[in-house]
Amino acid sequence: MNYSKNLLKASLLSLITICALTSVWSFSFNFTVSNSNKKLSTIQLLEKAKRMAAVGAVNDSIKNNSIIGIGSGSTIVYAMKRLVERVKQENLNVICIPTSFQARQLIIENKLKLGDLQTHPKIDCTIDGADEVDEKLVLIKGGGGCLTQEKIVAACADKLVIIADYTKKSKFLGEHWKKGIPIEVIPMAYLPVKLKIKEMFNGECELRMAKAKAGPVVTDNGNFILDWHFPGVGDWGVINTAITMIPGVVETGLFVNMATKVFFGLADGTVISL
Ligand code: 5RP
Repeated sequence: MNYSKNLLKASLLSLITICALTSVWSFSFNFTVSNSNKKLSTIQLLEKAKRMAAVGAVNDSIKNNSIIGIGSGSTIVYAMKRLVERVKQENLNVICIPTSFQARQLIIENKLKLGDLQTHPKIDCTIDGADEVDEKLVLIKGGGGCLTQEKIVAACADKLVIIADYTKKSKFLGEHWKKGIPIEVIPMAYLPVKLKIKEMFNGECELRMAKAKAGPVVTDNGNFILDWHFPGVGDWGVINTAITMIPGVVETGLFVNMATKVFFGLADGTVISL
């Protein structure tokens, strides 16, 4: 009698334990799923905004028989998709000039005509992304480390058209973008340049480190990148010129008076251009 009572007790205990474990598991499973769903929808919203901006810019700015500068980053991928569609549908004749290894790959993979600044030093329109855009259309670029070639190609173009999602639209530089202003430097000069910028303008320069390689990021030009966490709002034209004059600086990610038009994809799926 005692034996069967104990057996009943043990079975009940096991049942309770199994139920408890199952509900804990199911709670944590549901939590992860709903959490990742939430995250996914934010990402989807941003991707849609990038795509809408890119489509708007390519529809508006690309003409037949033109030389086009192709920027770098994730938003430009959507512009390339739209460009390929238009080339096929409208039989457009365009030559694409890359701003990075990534852009060159995109042009080649999409079987568009590839040019360079030696064959085509004059560009009709460059389309590129940005990390931040202020009210005067001053840009921070170089989040992807391609700022130097991007600036060279942009400077050769009649028009620089920027495509960005709504998170890049700011009143002033540094309002939303917290990763600083990228500055490409000759490797041997990274420390003197870092000290000089601190002496001249304050803030902190951080040597950008690689994620899947030991040591610093090495640009398409074989250089390093300093991300300058600047102290506040300044006269970006003056600051850009002063930093560019420091020996060892190749280029800054400050694009002052360069952007002709900016297309922002908004969270509600619409596009505005400034
Ligand atoms: C790369 C760049 C990019 O254009 C900028 O970082 C924006 O990239 P994304 O379109 O991925 O937001 O300047 O050097």
